[in-house]
Amino acid sequence: MKPLIVANWKINPSTLAEAKRLFNSVAKGIKNIGRTEVVICPPFLYLPTIQQSNISTIKLGAQDCFWEEKGAFTGEISPAMLKDLGVDYVIIGHSERRKYLKETDEKVNKKLRAVLKTGLKAILCVGSIQRGEKGGREMSRQLEKSLVKVKKSDLKNIVFTYEPIWAISTTRGSAVATPENTKDGAIFIKKTLFKLFNKPPKIKIIYGGSVDSSNIRGFIEGAEMDGVLIGAASLKAEDFIAAVKNIDKLRKT
Ligand code: PGA
Repeated sequence: MKPLIVANWKINPSTLAEAKRLFNSVAKGIKNIGRTEVVICPPFLYLPTIQQSNISTIKLGAQDCFWEEKGAFTGEISPAMLKDLGVDYVIIGHSERRKYLKETDEKVNKKLRAVLKTGLKAILCVGSIQRGEKGGREMSRQLEKSLVKVKKSDLKNIVFTYEPIWAISTTRGSAVATPENTKDGAIFIKKTLFKLFNKPPKIKIIYGGSVDSSNIRGFIEGAEMDGVLIGAASLKAEDFIAAVKNIDKLRKT
């Protein structure tokens, strides 16, 4: 399985010109990678322009979508529209949407099913605000409710993203997750899936929370993750390129 590195640009950069510059620098910097899958998730508005670059080493992702295909839902974007644009992945249930947009597990579930039905891959975020037992309960609830009516055969199209909220760069203060913490998170996700599905297939689990070029190796090697989701550091072309190369190089040796 190729390691997966997802760049979540969130609501950045502020102009299309800057977005093009960032994308072109990253595309140039990683043009020789061969063993890592890179997905860039820019704001919706930049997707068509970036898509035109048609860079084979980079796949496109969206940061969210709505659950209906079409109709009177002002301001929303459907999975079908994203597919039509050449998008491969959609992030669902990011902690910032759960927090600021009051996105519930039920809405996450509807979005997840719509994404899978459209034939796109979902990057499903789960993570707790608290640590320990309480955090575990929060994560099992998120997984259980997000996966209602999701078929076992669809699990291969879901990338489970472990996102301890206390470790995300914009909220963390001084707390940084260690590879040990994240390994525990991944084991927890696997155990919960075993409870929910009879013999689930091998699933992809990635980690998100203050990853950059200096710590990425630890999260992938030490925590045995299948990849990472990078927020803040994905906006700095040099750092993001270095992070990708660190992992690509690792897989060649
Ligand atoms: P960060 O974001 O890399 O800025 O901590 C990660 C995330 O949003 O999961």
